Amino acid sequence: MEIYAVKVLDISEKELHDVCLLIDKEKKGRIEKFINRKDKIRTLISEILLRTIIMEKFNINNNYTIIEKNQYGKPYLKCYPNFNFNISHSGDFVVCAIDDKPIGIDIEKIKNIEYKEIVKSFFSVNEFNYITKEQLNIQLSKFYEIWTLKESYIKCCGKGLSIPLKSFSIDIDRYQNIKVIINNEYKEYTFKRFDIEEGYKIAVCSLNKEIPNNITIINQKSLINDYCKIALE
Ligand code: COA
Ligand code: MG
Repeated sequence: MEIYAVKVLDISEKELHDVCLLIDKEKKGRIEKFINRKDKIRTLISEILLRTIIMEKFNINNNYTIIEKNQYGKPYLKCYPNFNFNISHSGDFVVCAIDDKPIGIDIEKIKNIEYKEIVKSFFSVNEFNYITKEQLNIQLSKFYEIWTLKESYIKCCGKGLSIPLKSFSIDIDRYQNIKVIINNEYKEYTFKRFDIEEGYKIAVCSLNKEIPNNITIINQKSLINDYCKIALE
């Protein structure tokens, strides 16, 4: 398994336009519809990060890098369906995890939201207790910790929000071991949390036993250069 992250920086209108000419038409259309420039750049970067990883790993041409989606929207690579990947983007970051078994990753920028109602309505009783037993000033951080872990699990399963959020519970014991409980049983998923920058939470969920300790940070400028070079080959 490998985990990658790119810190998204502003790029010129021309560069955005030029790189968009080298990506999938549907993605390009989606990028054009975004009003917010940051959304455009973040989506472009996540697309070229994934494509660069795939093209380098399998030594295949951009035209063969056909990404399809399952009925719940989880993308997969048409010619290598056993290659597993997952992407998440939030704030200034795009993250991508790849593996030989199903994988889910989630990054969230911590925002000052009214988490209490969400926890009451959508989280399990154990998750509720895990968050609310803490002092008020760290509850928001604990909320995002559980949120990203829950989302990494539903993204690993690939069924999106068709999985009710209360139907499973994230359990973090006093040694910080993380497990998922479904119908009172621990399931065979492995979890890990990562810190990338203050104000962000990242979680990975895998069907493999091991998750690496590190995230490979990729420089956006180098990524754009590499992608354009490979895509034009
Ligand atoms: N399973 C796994 N991955 C999926 C997916 C699915 N069913 N559907 C989409 N994705 C991938 C795509 O690559 C997508 O990127 P794209 O939109 O650029 O194509 C990426 O996940 C988006 O992930 P993220 O950046 O984390 O977005 P999100 O947090 O807004 O949404 C969803 C993630 C779509 C999978 C889904 O879980 C959702 O709508 N969540 C809303 C938030 C929520 O309620 N979370 C509950 C946490 S407790
Ligand atoms: Mg998310």
